Amino acid sequence: MTATPEMTDTKTVYLKTFGCQMNVLDSDLVQGQLEAMGYRFVDEWETADVILYNTCSVREHAENKVWSRVGELKSHKTKNPHVILGILGCMAERDGKDMVRKHPQVDLLCGPGELDQVPLLIDNAMKTNLEDRGGVRNAKIALQGNTHRRSATYSAAADTLENLDLSRSFSASNHGGAAYVRITRGCNKFCTYCVVPNTRGREVHRHPDHIFEECKKLVEQGVREITLLGQTVNHYHYDVNETVTIEGVHQPQVGQILSPNRGTGGPSPVFSDGVVSFADLLARIHDDIPELERLRFITSLPRDFGNDILQVIKDRPRICRYLHLPVQSGSNRLLKLMNRGYTVEEFKDLIDRVREYLPDAELATDIIVGFPTETDEDQAETAELLRYCRFKNSFIFKYSPRPDTVAITRFDDDVANDVKKFRNNELLGIQAEISQEIHDGYVGKTVPVFVESVSMKTKKAAGNLADTSVTLGWAPEVAKEVTQLAGRTTGDLIVCFDGSADLIGQTIDVEIEKAAPLTLFGKLAEVAKTCE
Ligand code: SAH
Ligand code: SF4
Ligand code: F3S
Repeated sequence: MTATPEMTDTKTVYLKTFGCQMNVLDSDLVQGQLEAMGYRFVDEWETADVILYNTCSVREHAENKVWSRVGELKSHKTKNPHVILGILGCMAERDGKDMVRKHPQVDLLCGPGELDQVPLLIDNAMKTNLEDRGGVRNAKIALQGNTHRRSATYSAAADTLENLDLSRSFSASNHGGAAYVRITRGCNKFCTYCVVPNTRGREVHRHPDHIFEECKKLVEQGVREITLLGQTVNHYHYDVNETVTIEGVHQPQVGQILSPNRGTGGPSPVFSDGVVSFADLLARIHDDIPELERLRFITSLPRDFGNDILQVIKDRPRICRYLHLPVQSGSNRLLKLMNRGYTVEEFKDLIDRVREYLPDAELATDIIVGFPTETDEDQAETAELLRYCRFKNSFIFKYSPRPDTVAITRFDDDVANDVKKFRNNELLGIQAEISQEIHDGYVGKTVPVFVESVSMKTKKAAGNLADTSVTLGWAPEVAKEVTQLAGRTTGDLIVCFDGSADLIGQTIDVEIEKAAPLTLFGKLAEVAKTCE
């Protein structure tokens, strides 16, 4: 009797993640779910029964990377028809049917709002493949994402997704003692260039008890650093007296001001009793989980970032001194066209307040160059803002027109690509100088470092560079002898130093000896003492 895929031993899965931390967390949850069902995850796609790509749509370049991989898999699928090829995440949501039409080798599609369905989709795809091979049916089932589910019964979908987060299985040893926890799904801000509101759906905040319990459970399992995730974490709010759903009364409308004080140095959204704000959430997690060594969060929207949040951080040493505040542009004219909801002056005021409350904090930002109509003057203003803010690093992107956004319909992509490139390099150059100066300031100091992983250098040497999209990740194969480790300071500066891999997941003192624009290099402080 011929063995069928159903009858063979454990099925293997290769899962590659593109895009943001939200996707990293989603991939983790999907992996946990599939592992619980007996699937085994492997590092090589060549031998896997199931190949999954968790994808990103934020820029065309991000999508092209996936297209070319999917293209490469065409002949692999022809030779190995039992293999299931699945596209998860934002591209599946955005590109849906089109992708299956162009790439019939894709067996399943699953948007971010439907990830709890992945095992079912894989099962269905396997059955369909079997039928294909037996000649019973030729048509391939392409199961799509959640657009219908999102619009029809969004709260039900959100509840099921909530279960996905709550049911997470986690082994701290696999993650170097660090974990992501989602606090908000989706985004309602509709910045004119951005595809995220279309791919992730509208903003829904998780119940604070669910978030707290998840953090507590993770810490009980050995996690020492938690990063709270959301597209605009500072807008987190939850009325514990009411169930907040997408139709709920506390969902802010686009552009709606919840409090006249917000963003001007006053508190974050003013709420009545029973409404948990982001500041409340941070304080609760910090104060009631004392074993948690580090609490971080990304990303903050520069609009409506109140002093209440800064005060909570200031009073709590285990909340990291790091803020990711994407400014996008230093030109008020462009900020308006982007629908960001703040001015350069308001952004500078926020930076001043951060410096006042948290003088030791490090800041990072995102910038888009070449947004439609951007002039040399706009670029000069952005350069000036970079010099004013002194970010420890900036992620600088060339504007990429995205389907179904306001910007693509309203504006021509009129900045030539070589101009975008030039402006990108110009800002990178300015940022590199600033980063070097900031890093130089650490040389000779001893700083606590949360050790995350074996460094990329060691991984490369060990031939274990399976996943370059996640720059810091635990490599279990590397011997636990002295090797180069990588970790981060409370201000999110990357530090490399020699030590035993047993230190992963711990916070230790490192004496900084050398600085490059992106990395600090040092030695274990105890080693330093013994040598003197
Ligand atoms: N929620 C975050 C950003 C999420 S997307 C915020 O509001 O700041 C991450 C970054 O990708 C953005 O900050 C922006 O700099 C960049 N980005 C998003 N859409 C883009 C586009 N169409 N072209 C180029 N960069 C883009
Ligand atoms: Fe995109 Fe703006 Fe939402 Fe950030 S806040 S995810 S840039 S729409
Ligand atoms: Fe990309 Fe989706 Fe994240 S578009 S940036 S993976 S939310």
